[in-house]
This record gives sequence, structure tokens and C-alpha cells, in this order.
Amino acid sequence: MPTPRLLVLFGSQTGTAQDVSERLGREARRRRLGCLVQALDSYPVVNLINEPLVIFVCATTGQGDPPDNMKNFWRFIFRKNLPSTSLCQMDFAVLGLGDSSYAKFNFVAKKLHRRLLQLGGSALLPMCLGDDQHELGPDAAIDPWLHDLWKKVLDLHPVPLDLGIIPTGIPLPSKFTLQFLEEAPVTHSEEQHVARMDPQDPPSELHPFLAPMVSNQRVTGPLHFQDVRLIEFDITGSGLSFTAGDVVLIQPKNIAPHVQQFCQLLGLDPDQCFTLQPREPGVPCPVQLPQPCSVRRLVSQYLDITSVPRRSFFELLACLSPHKLEREKLLEFSSAQGQEELCEYCSRPRRTVLEVLCDFPHTAGAIPPDYLLDLVPLIRPRAFSIASSLLAHPSRLQILVAVVQYQTRLKEPRRGLCSSWLASLDPGQGPVRVPLWVRPGSLTFPETPDTPVIMVGPGTGVAPFRATVQERVAQGQTRNFLFFGCRQRDQDFYWEPEWKELEKRGCLTLVTAFSREQEQKVYVQHRLRELGPLVWELLDHQGAYFYLAGNAKYMPVDVSEALMSIFQEEGGLSSPDAAAYLARLQRTLRFQTETWA
Ligand code: 2AM
Repeated sequence: MPTPRLLVLFGSQTGTAQDVSERLGREARRRRLGCLVQALDSYPVVNLINEPLVIFVCATTGQGDPPDNMKNFWRFIFRKNLPSTSLCQMDFAVLGLGDSSYAKFNFVAKKLHRRLLQLGGSALLPMCLGDDQHELGPDAAIDPWLHDLWKKVLDLHPVPLDLGIIPTGIPLPSKFTLQFLEEAPVTHSEEQHVARMDPQDPPSELHPFLAPMVSNQRVTGPLHFQDVRLIEFDITGSGLSFTAGDVVLIQPKNIAPHVQQFCQLLGLDPDQCFTLQPREPGVPCPVQLPQPCSVRRLVSQYLDITSVPRRSFFELLACLSPHKLEREKLLEFSSAQGQEELCEYCSRPRRTVLEVLCDFPHTAGAIPPDYLLDLVPLIRPRAFSIASSLLAHPSRLQILVAVVQYQTRLKEPRRGLCSSWLASLDPGQGPVRVPLWVRPGSLTFPETPDTPVIMVGPGTGVAPFRATVQERVAQGQTRNFLFFGCRQRDQDFYWEPEWKELEKRGCLTLVTAFSREQEQKVYVQHRLRELGPLVWELLDHQGAYFYLAGNAKYMPVDVSEALMSIFQEEGGLSSPDAAAYLARLQRTLRFQTETWA
């Protein structure tokens, strides 16, 4: 009997589920199993009925929601009319990734596991519930689970005796072969490359729109700790369209000194061009990559060399290292026992791929270029809430970007790739173009003109509500209540004149909380409580919708608690009834959140 193909399908928001899935793929290849690893929404879901062996790797995002790249699958699999025998040929296993500090810990994995059983699938083993809160991260649960998984899989589909398992010290063949070209061919500039793609469809990850940046302005005062930018793009002729609550995706680049340093370490000539071929049929090349491509473009636009490398990076590097001492250290970092040390060296101080390679120079210099795409993850696009409405700013798209910078024990401050790249672009110095496209956001707004909307957006959380207010005002909807919080009115009160103007016109009720203008901190939730009777009246008697956006850390929980205490005090509800009331608002989309780390 031929060995069946193992299918690994993932739903990943930050890349961890994808990384785990790729690890599963590598481990399957070591066991001589054919394996396909794909994002759930890239896989034609109707084919699932024919799949014999599927591992689902699913993250749960903040509010118990599935990641964006499995949303279509999620809708499909919960269709009511699917027969209960749909998946009766399938052996499956579910690996969940979540964070036990959130109420809905691994909600997606648990719900999926139940649903697959309902549809007739057979579970190979109980679910794995990876937990970010564990001091060793999700691997603490994943390592033993994978051990059991392979035992089950190999019982069902033994490795051919004459071949055996490929030991971990030997590198698997690279996914791609990279062929350097003798002579520099005519390559296309980024503009030409994008222009050559099919212009019929609206811009997407495959063919982004290269949007001219119109302005890039610091909007926080000189005394504020953070550099926050209001950035405007011209989207004339792009075919892009969006409404309040939608999100723009931006594909950032590495800065030139990093690209140069990386090429130097690996002994690569940035100007050399190459073509890329998949080694195995069925493995797609990274689709955005133009062919032929220069090393410089590969490194600056595609390889995420300032990401924090994961364990798989060290495993592969160990296999490739020709240097005894470096190899020993890398092997230690890849071993189960070495995980605490790896965390201390790499994930805690947020050391980057580039910095690690500097620490292992003999290994870096010996990396075969074929392995570049196995080793370094691709740069992922970053999502920003759109802060303007086309009704108020036709042909324009604005975002509010907090430039991420923080210190760890390493000397160099850590910088967010996308926000610091955006901040560095200066349209005053010459034309600047940024690859972007849009996607519907998770916030949806009532259509009825009389329905009041309460928005709570401290800090940059106010960005999506700026678009909402602009859009609603343009449509004649005037019942807008905005709770905004910042540190000091003269440092980080975004769009103050605009809000004041709208208040004057009677289109907005603005409530502010300035946290650092007095001894005691005042936050948006304190203002909500003070205005409890109004909030209750709007929600309970006038059918208001309530929205919350901003930093995911403590604010969402604090605001939810404030709401529940309003329900108790103003509505006379018991504590469980207040919680049920909030849950009902959530279910009926009258309480929606958009939060980010
Ligand atoms: P702080 O930085 O002075 O503590 C935007 O960042 C605003 O949100 C700031 O005024 C910030 O106050 C405030 N903020 C910080 N933590 C918060 C929380 N848990 N709930 C609501 N607002 C918070």
C-alpha cells in the first residue's frame, strides 16, 4: 500500500502556528512521509473528504477568534448542512496554540476538535494545548505531543525498513534550489514587477499597490515618550476601496545597512541575480518573488532578518555548521534540554536572526544559498487600522503608527520592522512608494442612522474610530460618543481640533481621560463609570453599539469590568447577569473589540 500523504493545515496570526506546522513537515520528511503544509484558507476545503491523515495547527487570537488565514475554512466547517459522515475517512489530530491568561484559552482548537469528531473524523490522539504563558512557551506541550503523534502515525504507516528515519543531525534537502546567473539579466524594478502583474483584481498580497506616501508627520509632542506618526498615502487609480473598520496591510522592507551586513556575513554578492526552483513538485515558490531576482532584493524585501529566530532555525543551522564549537552550541540550543538556555539567549532579549548569525560567523559564512528560504522566514505584512474615510478624504488613506522601540538587556534598542521603516521614509526628500492593500476589518457598524455608537479608543486605539466618525458624519449619523484617553492634552491628543469642530457641529460627544495631568491616573474606564447612567441608557434603551480598540494588555479587561459594574449599578443586575448581558451584547455584535499587542 503506498504511504498516504500527510496534510498539515494551519491557521496562524503571528507566525507561530505556521512555524510549528513547518516543523511537522520537516519531521514528516525525516520519516519518509509525503507532506503538504498549507494555510487553511489556501487549501480547497471540499477536498478534505478525501484526505486520510490531517494535522490541524490552530492559534486562538485574543477574543477567542480564529486567525485571519482560516476564517473562510471556519465558516465552511460550521455549515449546518454538512453530513455527519463527511470526514469518515480521515484520521486527524489538532494542535492548538493559545495563551492561558485569556478566558477563551485555545478556544479555536477545542471547538475544531469537537466539530471534526461530529463530522465523522477519527482523532489519532487527544488535542495538544500549547500555552504562551508556560515558561518554556508552547513547546513544553508540543514536544511530548509530537512524540506521541509520530508513534501513532508510524504505527499506521511504518517507515520502509530499507530507508529508515533520517537522523536529526543530517540536513534535509532544501525546499528550493537557487541558481546563480552568470550575467546580470534585465531585472524589473519593484514598480515594473508590480505593474506586470494582472491589474484586473484589486490590490492584494500577490500584487500590492505601490502607494505614494504624501506625508509622514510626527503627531506626538516633543515631551512624549513615543514617536507616533500620521501617515497619508495617495491611492488614486489603485482600485482600492474601504469603509470604516477596515485594515490596511503594509509590506515593509529591511533597511540597507542590515541587508549589507547579512550579505557580508554569508559571503553573498548583493548584485548577483538568481532563479529559484522548488525541489519537490507541489511546493510553491514564494509567490511575490520576481524571477530572476537579485540577492539584494531577496534580502531587503523578503527575508525577515530582524525577526527573532525560533528553535527550528538553530536546528537547521546546527546541521549546516562546519565549525565544531559553533555546532556544539547550536546543537545544545536545538535540544529539548537546551530550551531554557535558548530562551535566555534569544527570545527573552529579542535577539534577531542577524545578531545570531554574527555570533556564529563560521556557520553563517558556510550557509548554502539554497537553504536561505528554509532558514529565514519571509517578511510578513503588517496590519494597521485605517484612520480616514474616503467620504472625508477621497483618494487618500491615512494611518496612525506608533513607532515601536524598546530596550532589552542588549545594547541596541529593539525596533519594530514596519513602524521604524515607515517612520524612516521622508516624502519631502523625493518620491516614496509603499506596497499595500486592504482587507475588511473585524469591526462592523449599524446601518440604521439613529442607532447610537459608543467608541472607546485610548491612544492609537482611536485610529479606526476616526474613520468611523468621519464616515458616519458624512452619512448624516450624528449619534457618536467617543471616549478618548491619552497622557497629556498637549502631547498625545490626536486630532483635537477635528473633534472639537465636530462637537461644535453637534455630530460628536467627546469624553476625554488625560492620565497624567493630575496625581491620580484617570483612564477611559473611569470616565465610563462616571457617565454610567448615560452609557446604560444608550445601551439598554436606545440599542447602542459599543466598540473598543487599542492596546490588548489590560485595557480591554478593565473596560469590560467597568461596563459590567455599570450594568449592576444602573441596571440593577446581579454579577452573573451583568456578565451574561455583556456576553449577549457580544453575540449580537453590539460589543466589538479590535485590540493589538
Ligand atoms: P498611562 O500611560 O499614563 O498609564 C493611551 O496610551 C492612554 O491609555 C494613556 O493615557 C495610558 O495611560 C492609558 N492606559 C494605560 N493603561 C490603561 C488601562 N489599563 N486602561 C485604560 N487606559 C490605559
